[in-house]
Amino acid sequence: MVKKINTCVFISGSGSNLLSIIKSSREYNFPIKVKLVISNNKKANGMKYAKKYNIPCKYYSSLNKTLFEKKCLTELRKRKIKFLCLAGFMKILSNSFISNFRHSILNIHPSLLPKYKGLNTHKRILKNKDIYAGCTVHYVNRKLDSGKIISNKKIFIKKKETEKSLKRKVLLLEHKLYPQAIRQVFK
Ligand code: GRF
Repeated sequence: MVKKINTCVFISGSGSNLLSIIKSSREYNFPIKVKLVISNNKKANGMKYAKKYNIPCKYYSSLNKTLFEKKCLTELRKRKIKFLCLAGFMKILSNSFISNFRHSILNIHPSLLPKYKGLNTHKRILKNKDIYAGCTVHYVNRKLDSGKIISNKKIFIKKKETEKSLKRKVLLLEHKLYPQAIRQVFK
């Protein structure tokens, strides 16, 4: 049995990437174990997945970022969490928070980084008539969506693609990519 790294997943919304990480982490040789889920949205659907799989889940408001990060740090230390996965987490973490987890925070972004950092990626991709769309897992650093790239996956954009169809396809890719990237990090 591999010794799994205690991990916390940060979410804000639907939590489909959280679910794919939880499912993978139940495989015996997967390198991490999801020990905690933190949400900054008390209505986040993803919190249901934590409950379903008996994973402790905390909601902290992030309106006051300093307080939010302080609460997170206390909980992360208490549970000996060594690795963080941001999965649809819609808040930018401060430099001082990030420095507590050097090279140990991953994020997934729905574009082929370094293209289309930030929000509304699918809309911008379609507007620019790109040939490919995709998703990227990267380390989190001080700058938004700019940390070292770990891995990506791409798909061809069809002629009649809409924002909705593209979002759905890219999200399915994300569910494959995130667990793969986590394995890669611990190889
Ligand atoms: C994903 O597309 C992720 O890349 C982006 O927000 C979405 C979150 O989806 N940052 P989910 O909450 O994991 O379902």
